[in-house]
Amino acid sequence: MNQPDTILVLDFGGQYTHLIARRIRELSVYSEVLPFNVKLDRIKSFKPKGIILSGGPQSIYAQDSPKISSEFFAYCEENKIPVLGICYGLHHIAYSFAGKIDSLPKKEYGKRTLKILKKKPLLKGLNTTETVWMSHGDQITELPADFELIASSETCPIAAFQNVNKQIYAVQFHVEVSHTPKGMQILKNFVYDICKCKQNWKMADFIQETISKIREKVQNEKVIMAVSGGVDSTVAAILIEKAIGDRIFCIFVDNGLMRKNEVAEVKYRFQNILKFKHFFVEDASKLFLSRLKGITDPEEKRKIIAYTFIEVFEAKAEELKKQYGEIKFLGQGTIAPDRIESGVTSRTSARIKSHHNVSLPEKMKLQVIEPLQLLYKDEVRKVGEQLGIPREFIERHPFPGPSLAIRIIGEVTEEKLRIVRESDAILIEEIKKAGIYNKVWQAFTGYLPIKSVGVMGDARTYQNMVLIRIIESKDAMTANFAKIDWDLLEHIASRIINEVPGVNRVVYDVSNKPPATVELE
Ligand code: XMP
Repeated sequence: MNQPDTILVLDFGGQYTHLIARRIRELSVYSEVLPFNVKLDRIKSFKPKGIILSGGPQSIYAQDSPKISSEFFAYCEENKIPVLGICYGLHHIAYSFAGKIDSLPKKEYGKRTLKILKKKPLLKGLNTTETVWMSHGDQITELPADFELIASSETCPIAAFQNVNKQIYAVQFHVEVSHTPKGMQILKNFVYDICKCKQNWKMADFIQETISKIREKVQNEKVIMAVSGGVDSTVAAILIEKAIGDRIFCIFVDNGLMRKNEVAEVKYRFQNILKFKHFFVEDASKLFLSRLKGITDPEEKRKIIAYTFIEVFEAKAEELKKQYGEIKFLGQGTIAPDRIESGVTSRTSARIKSHHNVSLPEKMKLQVIEPLQLLYKDEVRKVGEQLGIPREFIERHPFPGPSLAIRIIGEVTEEKLRIVRESDAILIEEIKKAGIYNKVWQAFTGYLPIKSVGVMGDARTYQNMVLIRIIESKDAMTANFAKIDWDLLEHIASRIINEVPGVNRVVYDVSNKPPATVELE
């Protein structure tokens, strides 16, 4: 295949770096993320039409702050490759061209009104004022020479600047998040008008390329595939099966933390609908629950679960070896946000939480293969659609690998699992009935580690509290709580209190991400 027009994103550790690449792919232009310190030769090998410098958590003047090689800007100028800096990327541009950056006394965070001072070419099509999303601790106090100011806000006077001759553009705000409504317009201006990219990349190319890459990596070996029943691991399993046929062995680990009827349903789907030749349910519930006993720290819970998963997969690989010969690879449905929030995409990014499939033990016998690691959930759904996977799989809400353990704040016990399982089943049944299951990103219940007083019949109760969380999102990187109908919410709460013994109070989570996260831990 010919190399499609490519925009590279250099990663300085921002939470939204991969989202930038994904937004570009949404514009039918190929985009890939590379670490900020990648060798210039590697950048050259892509023949990029444009380069974006991402955000990042550090201060540019900090001693160990990430910096690009000194030849970078000269290379871009010589080859007429436009550069766009976002947030830390903007600081880096100012720093490299002798502008001045200062720390704010207090981090600026949230929606701001931007005044557009010059529209062409980067801000073409925008109104005189626009809403943008800011998240920064430093800002520019002196524009570098030869750069012109193109936008400012009340709190951030130098919010965007450009040098059209050098083809360098910079914005302090985040164009890639949905909280910046005209962000896509700005990216379109950069990608189509400034970088002159053609729309010559599509999802079908991703499928073909991925299948070839899997074949190349696995050769004649076998893959043990971790399936959870969710869309990511299902799509990953099908891609691997397309690449290597029935040398894939799908394992569904019952970790004792599953939702009501989950084990039977996943088994039915994989055996009867998707018809995988090798599918096994591994009951490790006792092992997981015994290891989680007494554990309350969220990261420790996540780590125990991640390591126990690997242990179970390695033991299963050993067992299967007797019948089928050695298994070298472990397939996982890891997607971009799992890696970003686990802080593994670059040495500079912050760890928000260790996603179960990312925090792997150092000494692992199996080699990991993750065909979806560049993609976001809705991109995975598109791949799934193209692969002809039934809608019911594709439209399932995401379910995290650590399962109900991260929806129970504090220690996991059988009693709390019962409460979450039963209340969750009621919630899902009701929102499906109300026709909103497919309209929201995720809906689930959680257990809060507090008891409160209630009155049932004529008697006092002192019982558990269930939390309902329903969110809307495009990619799980940002999310808003869903403003669902009060009557529906009341009906669900009333069913939970009446039908789940031990619960006398239900609360609705009205926090957005950020600053909260989707799951409770
Ligand atoms: P958070 O809680 O990080 O969730 O805002 C974002 C999305 O990721 C899912 N999630 C996980 N998925 N392993 C997974 O496979 C994990 O460890 C994990 N933690 C969170 C979560 O359900 C939401 O859709």
